[in-house]
Amino acid sequence: MCGIVGYVGSGQALEVLLHGLTRLEYRGYDSAGLAVARPGSITIAKAEGKLSRLKGIVDPTALSGHLGIGHTRWATHGVPSDRNAHPHSDTSGDFVVVHNGIVENFRTLRDQLELRGVTFRSDTDTEVLAHLVAEAFDGDLTEAVRYAIGQAQGAYALVAMTAHRPDRIVAARMTSPLVVGLGENETFLASDIPAILKYTQRFQLVEDGEIVTVTEAGAAFETFSGNPIEKKPFTVDWETDSVFKGGFDHFMEKEIHEQPEVIARTMGTRIRAGADGGERVALEGLRWLDQSPDGVNRIRITACGTAYHAGLVGRILFEQLAGIPGEVAYAHELRYGNPLFEEGLLTLAISQSGETADTLAAGRLSREHGSRLLALTNVVGSSLAREADDVIYTWAGPEISVASTKAYIAMLVGETLLALEMGRRSGRLSPAEEGELVAELRGLPSKATRILESPDEIVRLAEELAKWPNVYFIGRGLDHATAMEGALKLKEISYIHAEAMPSGELKHGTLALISPGVPVVAVATNPQVHSKVLLGLQEVKARRGQVIAVAFEDDQEIGSVSDHVIRIPRTAHLLSPILAAIPLQLLAYHTARRLGRDIDQPRNLAKSVTVE
Ligand code: M6R
Repeated sequence: MCGIVGYVGSGQALEVLLHGLTRLEYRGYDSAGLAVARPGSITIAKAEGKLSRLKGIVDPTALSGHLGIGHTRWATHGVPSDRNAHPHSDTSGDFVVVHNGIVENFRTLRDQLELRGVTFRSDTDTEVLAHLVAEAFDGDLTEAVRYAIGQAQGAYALVAMTAHRPDRIVAARMTSPLVVGLGENETFLASDIPAILKYTQRFQLVEDGEIVTVTEAGAAFETFSGNPIEKKPFTVDWETDSVFKGGFDHFMEKEIHEQPEVIARTMGTRIRAGADGGERVALEGLRWLDQSPDGVNRIRITACGTAYHAGLVGRILFEQLAGIPGEVAYAHELRYGNPLFEEGLLTLAISQSGETADTLAAGRLSREHGSRLLALTNVVGSSLAREADDVIYTWAGPEISVASTKAYIAMLVGETLLALEMGRRSGRLSPAEEGELVAELRGLPSKATRILESPDEIVRLAEELAKWPNVYFIGRGLDHATAMEGALKLKEISYIHAEAMPSGELKHGTLALISPGVPVVAVATNPQVHSKVLLGLQEVKARRGQVIAVAFEDDQEIGSVSDHVIRIPRTAHLLSPILAAIPLQLLAYHTARRLGRDIDQPRNLAKSVTVE
């Protein structure tokens, strides 16, 4: 939540800050602001609303200088407004900070500062940090930041600068992500790598409990208690193109269309020829699998949002393919739910960003209780990846749209690979069974492409959905997980109320809401209960509800109980969530588009939720 960027070097800070903020806007867009320092003075520009408002008011002459910091905000303390926008300064205006996270004891700190005569100009928790830094400064900005974070409790990334030392930025990290980028006579700071990838490919990660002093010569790291840390830079070879829209109108649309390639990439080199000539999964680098493959008796999956829906699919895959019972828990529930831990419990934490605060906390709690923690994440070097015992990367590439699409599909592929690997090792799956599913997996990219090639029916249905205030999504088993994900996609970007439930649950209450025309989206790929699904749809039709079914292309029966059928290529039932999610993503996208919504940056949301 919130994006931070910083620059010190021989170039103009303003250009770097605006570019970085553009890349970081997905993290929060309640307001944006920046500050540029020159010897003896700091100039701040900030504005409520999207970055375009800030861009409209920045004066390059007033903001010329070689040292600066910037911020995009997702509001936690204080409404979105100009006065609550970052950066925040102390009373003199000589000390300026930006901050991502929450200062939990800010009320106490604010009361103490007010007793010492400080007048506050915002409602934010962040402002206390600016005053604390100013109060402690005696010529050494690093020491002043150390003092401020010593007072503060919570999760944060803090970045500070002062007009008295216009050659440096000092940052500290406790939980919220921060990375240093190294250039020639210039150094960058940002919440994530893509924000500064245009300028450098050499990075250093700021870890929890570290302070970093950044000058144009580079970055000096130390612990909160002042011990210096040697840190080797690493290089990333990501394509900068992946953070552009590439001819699509929205990142979401682009990311949906990348999915065939993403499915193939997630499988990547993890599928090899077996001794019998058939193909098999080869998931490497999972130490627990190598050391004690039989040591897992149960898998507890924890995640939030779309990643949680991937977990719902994963639970069924692990049970069906590996014979290991599982459970799925929202991370925010798990962390405060006094869960029970037993020998042989593997915790699988799923997170696109690897920075979701609740998921990190649930993972930490599990490790503290002796559970092995396996991360399934998209972001290399993310907090989750670093804290887990083992990691499976999804390799979906940077996902910019707030609504997750390709990262979800990649999670499903990652879980399938893991379930197949565990199933083979446990002896539950024969080589032939594994080979069959692997062959089906291999066929998914071209089947996904076919879905994407014929959007006309979906665009037409989206026009219909856009007229309704409520839409219901139903399905059974794996189809229920897909229905949950379809409903989340629709509500988060179109703002239409959408509710998902198992098909069998409809008649226990929600059927009362079905009146003529009300749309019910039914995911119907589950062969075991197909006849039951048809029965449920009859019940909807009897109330003259409008049934939109997602079904396999050769399903002969579904048409008789549906008003519209979105057909997808047939695949093995256990893999069907990977294909069935795609039309629902498109349906949400085109509905939101029809309604003129802000698709990539829906109101009130942010890409990664790094606060509780
Ligand atoms: O980065 P994570 O996967 O941990 O994020 C979890 C959720 O915040 C995320 O999936 C959210 O629900 C998406 N906006 C859904 O599209």
